[in-house]
Amino acid sequence: MTHVIVALPGDGIGPEVIAAAVEVLKWCGRHHGLELEVRTFPAGGTALERYGDPLPDFVLAACREADAILVGAAGDSRFDSNPARMRPEQALLRLRKELGLYTNLRPVKTHPSLLDTSPFKKSIIENVDIMIVRELTGGIYFGEPRGTERRSGVRCAYNMEIYHDYEIERIARVAFQLAGERSRLVTSVDKSNVMESSLLWRTVVEEVALEYPGVELEHMLVDNCSMQLISRPRHFDVLLSTNLFGDILSDEAAVLAGSIGLLPSASLGAPAEGVRKGLYEPVHGTAPDIAGRGQANPLAAISSVALMFRYSLGREDIARRIDAAVETCLLQGHRTADLVSAGEGAMGTRAMAARVLEALEVGL
Ligand code: NAD
Ligand code: IPM
Ligand code: MN
Repeated sequence: MTHVIVALPGDGIGPEVIAAAVEVLKWCGRHHGLELEVRTFPAGGTALERYGDPLPDFVLAACREADAILVGAAGDSRFDSNPARMRPEQALLRLRKELGLYTNLRPVKTHPSLLDTSPFKKSIIENVDIMIVRELTGGIYFGEPRGTERRSGVRCAYNMEIYHDYEIERIARVAFQLAGERSRLVTSVDKSNVMESSLLWRTVVEEVALEYPGVELEHMLVDNCSMQLISRPRHFDVLLSTNLFGDILSDEAAVLAGSIGLLPSASLGAPAEGVRKGLYEPVHGTAPDIAGRGQANPLAAISSVALMFRYSLGREDIARRIDAAVETCLLQGHRTADLVSAGEGAMGTRAMAARVLEALEVGL
């Protein structure tokens, strides 16, 4: 059986980190006797430039056929003044929506070897292990109406935060199920003191909680959560949030892990006949400030490959092996520029990828 993986390197550092991740993917295929076919397509600004569309039909069709999709990042300031639908980022938003990938998992763990270089005190961040469960196909990202207008000579622009009960129900179930396999606490984040959509969110999450008596539920307002996340991060187990709040809180949580260059993500739909198609991508963006220099940290992309083996390819053993190789590299002191203090030496993207491959070999 051949697994078809579509790779969408995208823009900025996307191609640099995806080259590293594909090397790891292929190594795992070879060493575990799996037939993996990697098909690469343009997406984001690269596709916009070439085809006038951030996600051309043939790319979407290839993604529909694939068992899993590996994405670098999309975004390019040359298209900043384009209307929202003609921006590189639209490639991702359309893929998530068209493929029904409503669950976004963003695991955040601290690494023992990075505790001393963290801007946070070691005593606060050691042993942090949080699973962010972000709703990915609803809320203000997709709500209608949206637009920009002139009303009686006044410019205005608007977006709509709207959640339907079934959207909240299904993502809440994901959070409770995961918490049941972890430390049995769901922290649901909302702004129910101000927003109706958040009030419905809270109500539906409470209804779903009744189905999971073994899991504790707490609610937290998002402003408070952004503070608790860095003042007592060990408190959290599964953090359940809307599309927008999850986006923001996950970048904040990246600092706990050591760098945004370390955080992977998995975007999943409903399981169908045991197969779970997924889209895997680093949490970070195109990092225009370092793009093209070979300096980007490839570990977020490589860890996203681990999530692909875990959730779409049914190979928990390989997922663990990749996670262990990444941990080994960090323990051995290998660092890209985002992980060192100013003035210290750092290795580039390709050198870090080579160290991961070495660690995988040694782990044989
Ligand atoms: P960003 O995540 O690209 O960069 C933020 C900071 O983190 C920068 O200083 C960058 O150098 C650093 N950084 C990010 N990834 C890194 C890595 N792997 N190694 C080392 N350092 C890394 O966020 P931004 O600057 O706000 O966004 C840039 C562009 O990327 C925008 O166009 C945005 O829309 C897009 N974006 C795309 C995605 C995605 O495709 N999933 C996610 C976020 C942002
Ligand atoms: C992310 C990104 C995307 C989002 C953008 C690029 C559309 O920031 O995946 O975190 O906001 O979801
Ligand atoms: Mn983001």
